[in-house]
Amino acid sequence: MEKFLTIADLREAHRRRVPRMFYDYADSGSYTEGTYRENETAFSAIKLRQRVARNIDKRDLSSTILGEKVAMPVYLAPVGMTGMQHADGEIHAARAAEKFGIPFCLSTMSICSMEDVAAATTKPFYFQLYVMRDRAFVADMIARAKAVGCSALVLTLDLQILGQRHKDLRNGLSAPPKMTPKVIADLIKHPAWCMDMLGTKRRTFGNIVGHAKGVTDLSSLSSWTADQFDPSLDWSSIEWVKSHWGGKLILKGIGDAEDARIALDSGADAITVSNHGGRQLDGAPASIHMLPEIAEAVGDRMEVHFDGGIRSGQDVLKAIALGAHATSIGRAYIHGLGAGGEQGVTRALEIIRREMDITMALCGETKIADIGEHNVWGGVPRPAPIVEEPRERALTAVGA
Ligand code: FNR
Repeated sequence: MEKFLTIADLREAHRRRVPRMFYDYADSGSYTEGTYRENETAFSAIKLRQRVARNIDKRDLSSTILGEKVAMPVYLAPVGMTGMQHADGEIHAARAAEKFGIPFCLSTMSICSMEDVAAATTKPFYFQLYVMRDRAFVADMIARAKAVGCSALVLTLDLQILGQRHKDLRNGLSAPPKMTPKVIADLIKHPAWCMDMLGTKRRTFGNIVGHAKGVTDLSSLSSWTADQFDPSLDWSSIEWVKSHWGGKLILKGIGDAEDARIALDSGADAITVSNHGGRQLDGAPASIHMLPEIAEAVGDRMEVHFDGGIRSGQDVLKAIALGAHATSIGRAYIHGLGAGGEQGVTRALEIIRREMDITMALCGETKIADIGEHNVWGGVPRPAPIVEEPRERALTAVGA
């Protein structure tokens, strides 16, 4: 694994090892993919301030998330179908996170079930919930997450309706893959992946099949998922989830300061500033551009987590400097997983940790709690303020 020096190296190995349908599922955004690309590129426009002669001998990257000590302020974001990037992928990722000393978050749309992951690990993990129309099923998932000892519920709010990813439609994405001539031709080109997959029984959505009413096989699963995400979700549904769960709650998918203020009143323990990795609202600003005004609106009344576009330790530090208490990574660890299972995820985390350590030192800092706006050169990037015209004047201007 030492030959991989950057997340980009792991990404290339992931691309070579995994069938196209699943690689594309990870490496894509919705519609024009503009927000997806912008999430990454916006980071390079943010510059760090170099400081010298500040005794950077003893450095500490550890922090806390929701009161728990972590080796660094980074955790593994919920990612659907991780078990298709590598056989038993969720277990590999959860084990790597556990050994590294950071949290792992399991998606509702995972391949390994929450019971599988709990049986293969020793530390509690987070569970990410989507609110489905079948509320009895949602209540049951919450009860199962409690039963396996999940330490936080991550309620995702930005996918009650699906932003279209053209590549998934063109590739006929499904888990397990449907054996069309095109898919078979692709699988033949990835023998190592196929051999691994033949060695596991887990090839479809483990949290759903056998648990949701009437979902017993692939065809019933497809029609179930197609109309289960509930677009009527509102803040009262969040209250409903909160009362069933009763534990630590993170609201994921906040992209607006007003929504952050409402989240604060809802009694959540944390929010995640996220645009779902550019997979939902194409045209939304880069996630890192959404962060400063949200962090300012929330202050220190609740933890602000951040994800979207992180591909290096420098990116993590920039997010912390711009107001994030913690960050989560999606593709950065998925590339590691696709490249080499648990060892690949560990390698991704080592790369990020090393980059964070060196970068923090070159900024003249020795601990995470000291990172702030002062480390950003040229100040916090802020979108130009919108000057609101008084309503009457605006109406006259359009001749109404
Ligand atoms: C995701 N994400 C996601 N989020 C979620 O709440 N539930 C899910 O099931 C998924 N599934 C998913 C699949 C894939 C392939 C990706 C890449 C992402 C979004 C994820 O949690 C996170 O918000 C983004 O991945 C962050 O962006 P980066 O780090 O991937 O750039």
